Amino acid sequence: MKHKKLSVFLAACLFAASAWAASDAKMNLFIDNLMSKMTLQEKIGQLNLPVTGDIVTGTAKSSDIAGKIKLGQVGGLFNLKGVEAIREIQKIAVEQSRLHIPLIFGMDVIHGYETVFPIPFALSMTWDMQAIERSARIASVEATADGIAWTFSPMVDICREPRWGRMSEGSGEDPYLGSRIAEAMVRGYQGIDLTDPTTMMACVKHFALYGAPEAGRDYNTVDMSRVRMFNEYFPPYKAAADAGAGSFMTSFNTVDYIPATGNRWLMTEVLRDMWHFNGFVVTDYTAISEMINHGLGDLQQVSALALNAGTDMDMVADGFVGTLEKSLQEGKVTLEAINTACRRILEAKYKLGLFDDPYRYLDAKRAKRDIYTNEHRAEARRIATESFVLLENSDNLLPLKKQGTIALVGPLANTRANMPGTWSVAATSDRYSTLLEAMQRAVGDKAQVLYAKGCNVCYDEELEKNSTMFGREMRDPRSAEEMRDEALRIASQADVIVAAMGEPSEMSGEASSRSDISILDAQKDLLTALKATGKPIVLLNFSGRATVMTWEKENFSTILNVWFGGSEAADAICDVVFGDVAPSGHLTASMPKNVGQVPIYYNHLNTGRPNPKWFTKFTSNYLDVDNEPLYPFGYGLSYTTFSYSPVALSSSTMTHDGSIKASVNVTNTGTREASEVVQLYIRDLVGSISRPVKELKDFARITLKPGETRTVEFTITADKLKFYNSELQYDCEPGEFDLMIGPNSRDVETLRFTLQ
Ligand code: BGC
Repeated sequence: MKHKKLSVFLAACLFAASAWAASDAKMNLFIDNLMSKMTLQEKIGQLNLPVTGDIVTGTAKSSDIAGKIKLGQVGGLFNLKGVEAIREIQKIAVEQSRLHIPLIFGMDVIHGYETVFPIPFALSMTWDMQAIERSARIASVEATADGIAWTFSPMVDICREPRWGRMSEGSGEDPYLGSRIAEAMVRGYQGIDLTDPTTMMACVKHFALYGAPEAGRDYNTVDMSRVRMFNEYFPPYKAAADAGAGSFMTSFNTVDYIPATGNRWLMTEVLRDMWHFNGFVVTDYTAISEMINHGLGDLQQVSALALNAGTDMDMVADGFVGTLEKSLQEGKVTLEAINTACRRILEAKYKLGLFDDPYRYLDAKRAKRDIYTNEHRAEARRIATESFVLLENSDNLLPLKKQGTIALVGPLANTRANMPGTWSVAATSDRYSTLLEAMQRAVGDKAQVLYAKGCNVCYDEELEKNSTMFGREMRDPRSAEEMRDEALRIASQADVIVAAMGEPSEMSGEASSRSDISILDAQKDLLTALKATGKPIVLLNFSGRATVMTWEKENFSTILNVWFGGSEAADAICDVVFGDVAPSGHLTASMPKNVGQVPIYYNHLNTGRPNPKWFTKFTSNYLDVDNEPLYPFGYGLSYTTFSYSPVALSSSTMTHDGSIKASVNVTNTGTREASEVVQLYIRDLVGSISRPVKELKDFARITLKPGETRTVEFTITADKLKFYNSELQYDCEPGEFDLMIGPNSRDVETLRFTLQ
């Protein structure tokens, strides 16, 4: 019987493999045929990805891009919104260019489309892979309904550097969690069939190491050992490639002193030869011409460098269209390299079904029906509630009752445009609620909500201006005293104060690095004044990065980090504040005590002089602060409590081909249903290279009713123990390992086992 099943299975595999080979052969034939008709200029044209600029419906025909499209000098366009505008442009390519090759339309659909999900950093706090996949799926349904076939997401750059504004776009500091999220996003966007008009092609970015810029300054130099790249920074990119992502984007930074875009080792040896990625690589915005500033030569030289490295498509720099023909004549690039890049882009279009029907993503009916639907919004709201992290609640002030008078204060309390968060290109913020509106709706006539802004983002007008761009300006012309007095007046009439503080949404994101990531001056003064009233205060902290909250922790007993929760953020915040949903987010980045501790991350190496107790002379510590983060990786409270039984190990020895099981009983010891994230960490005690003090290797997100107990079981196989050694060979080494289980990376129970 068993054999029969096996042979049926094998036959099915063979059938799938041969169907695959047949469809590949069909594609190759189609592309061979097409390419045989293409001129050199048309081939180079496919490698060109200009930005759309300000084309709107009706203006496409007269744009300068239209002329280039007719000549076959454009392969795709990006960040153009709306079926009509896109159709108009696609029509030019299909009807007026010589070979009728359709364009590919891309967009930064980063965390949702018009229904916006929490920023990716916040999404990662859910540790909920189904929710994350679902968010990408919904983003895909909406974006494809509006003409988009290609998204510049997921951004999978590991980041231990909260000064860097783009921490907001990634999944935090951990390679294991980052890898699971990368896969979930690719699955969500691409589904199982790219020709399905509700799926779109993913673009994994920014390859590679963009999340480790020196001093946290955007676009800055990155330099690290290859062992670190492979063990700590590469895993999410590789996971996304393994999940079948159709495209990759190069990063702006240097890797081994060569900008990623021109780095052959990275783009060809690692990505294609080692990882077998067979999609296409697009540069980041003007990354080719930026190599001139990096000191790699003039536009012709850097364009040749990029092509020879294995980069296929040039975003905005005009380097390929401007210089490759000349480079070919001068022998600096080969026709084969141009053909290869062109083929990869045509393959992507083929896989998306664009040659079958160039208008397959351009169905105006779908756009009306599928975007910003009630169902999508409900999902976004639910997922946002899972992303908030309860940092403090020692007085059990949360959840609030819907009664009495609530004073809602703070610069983030009544702003619509700041709710969705950075990189929400397709957002339609005028339809989203402010926190004030949502709160009024939530309490109805059961309670009274008073509002005062209380202060501006900060005293420095220039800093506020630079941190609130793209229509998200919010400066109040009143004096600080006037605003504060108003807040104190309403506070005096209230039973509880809810303070909506933190960063505006554009204080994180691209080119939004900060050297000081602690609370902004005007907000600190307002909170100090509010605290002096003696009223209970719920502090809601908005941010797009891990911030320093040392002062807040010392002064406030109730802190809920809400990041940027997307289009439904305001309602979701109320769901948690008023206890309809218990918070369950867990930190995916360590929160430092001060900026001097940065980079701070839980999965660090030991030193030769570990610090037994702060302060100990001649051990690895600071004079002025201990080594611990303020809140560790994996941390997050709930409205209930959970207890963990002692951990049980099925055996204390394991063979290379075998496995052992670790299990723990988790009980909800509180009075309400809630979710917990049970985390498994492992430490390799002795290795051929120094190994981290602990590494996340698995986790389980579980929901328990009050009093309910669940056994969580993790299986440990050799795969969980493997790492890249100094020869970059991937394997595990026999010896002793510590296995740790707990609700965060700090509070764990440790058991030992041996790999034979
Ligand atoms: C960003 C990318 C983005 C691209 C296109 C660049 O500035 O670094 O993440 O996809 O612009 O908008």
